[in-house]
Amino acid sequence: MARTLITGGLVITAAEEVPADVLVEDGRVAALALPGSQRWSADRVFDASGKYVVPGGVDAHTHMEMPFGGTRASDTFTTGTRAAAWGGTTTIVDFAVQSRGSSLRAGLDDWHAKADGNCAIDYAFHMIVSDVNEAVLREMPGLVGEGVTSFKLFMAYPGVFYSDDGQILRAMQQAADLGALTMVHAENGPAIDVLVEQALARGETDPRYHGEVRRALLEAEATHRAIQLARVAGAPLYVVHVSAREALAELAAARDLGLPVFGETCPQYLFLSTDNLAEPDFEGAKYVCSTPLRPKDHQDALWRGLRTDDLQVVSTDHCPFCFAGQKELGRGDFSKIPNGLPGVEHRMDLLHQAVVEGRISRRRWIELACAAPARMFGLHPRKGTIAPGADADLVIYDPHAVQTLSAATHHMNVDYSAYEGRTVTGRVETVLSRGEVVLDRGDYLGRPGHGTFLPRSTCQYL
Ligand code: URP
Ligand code: ZN
Ligand code: ZN
Repeated sequence: MARTLITGGLVITAAEEVPADVLVEDGRVAALALPGSQRWSADRVFDASGKYVVPGGVDAHTHMEMPFGGTRASDTFTTGTRAAAWGGTTTIVDFAVQSRGSSLRAGLDDWHAKADGNCAIDYAFHMIVSDVNEAVLREMPGLVGEGVTSFKLFMAYPGVFYSDDGQILRAMQQAADLGALTMVHAENGPAIDVLVEQALARGETDPRYHGEVRRALLEAEATHRAIQLARVAGAPLYVVHVSAREALAELAAARDLGLPVFGETCPQYLFLSTDNLAEPDFEGAKYVCSTPLRPKDHQDALWRGLRTDDLQVVSTDHCPFCFAGQKELGRGDFSKIPNGLPGVEHRMDLLHQAVVEGRISRRRWIELACAAPARMFGLHPRKGTIAPGADADLVIYDPHAVQTLSAATHHMNVDYSAYEGRTVTGRVETVLSRGEVVLDRGDYLGRPGHGTFLPRSTCQYL
């Protein structure tokens, strides 16, 4: 493979910011040196003067082409990983799904078949367990051996992915024995279903009621319960898509006790709110996801949690459904709107905007978006950092470019943008994945099949 040199940029990792030249050889970072201090020869040179050089983003929560809500997420691995690359993300960890009545093996094979040969960037899998039973528990060690070292359980969506407390406890015990990480969607699904039924009976059918019935207290209650179940099982716990400040308080309290409890939030909870869900003419459907968007006053608590490390990771929960024909399934009944938002392309930029606005530091940006997800899910230091030996997943980032997010210009396979018209400062200029140039100044050079499956080790925070 060619030698590539990136000169004159400010190299930012979770640990430091240093002006440096970066030499790439055979798909890996070979060396860093003070700018101009080495006479390195290279086949290709990128001048990053005035720019940042950051690790490629690691998005630890995506759902490419997942069947859900009577339809299927609209990004395939081909379109979704291409969009991720446009936004400076070079690794995704997607959720393979066990269908009820089927095996983990069948679900994982299905996901490998969807992804294999189609991804522009590297990818790994978590496993959604929707049917905890003896046979499934016996399958879990095999998956861990294959590098699928995290299992997601749902306290929500009865009849679909839902597990009861006994099932969750048993899966947590098994995961703990294996050194695997249990991920939980923490919402009290059965209670929510009662509130949905009551709301619909009152004629409350608009998208905004999705946010009202999925009460913050029911996220907090489930978060508390998940933490106690994890304590009983002796298991580490990762709570996905935290949106309510009351749920965050449960995580913070658990962490103050020294428990191995981790939390993730997503850009939609940091930048969007119930005001979006209340948009007229069914436009609110574009913002239906679970956990739901919360009133704006939850956002400050989430930002604080990101600063204080009560939340460690920002992922997208990318699960796009087109407005036409998919979100529209829920006209007249909000409970039939497929749950999920597009976002895999915008995470790095939105978090950089938070740097611009002074909410987080540059190093914390990289920690939340690259290093911490890589460590959390056993990919560090191959991914998530810039260091000799690491994969050359590198982004040259222009911190001064101004762009307006829009469905007209994004690359996700979805007919709307949740951030339509929002202007942000900062833009990805060049993306390398294992040393190969995927994107350069608006030219897409990636290809399906470049991305390979990443078997993961276990959580590196334990
Ligand atoms: O609304 C969401 N989050 N859809 C994807 C499935 C999930 O719960 O993560
Ligand atoms: Zn979920
Ligand atoms: Zn999800």
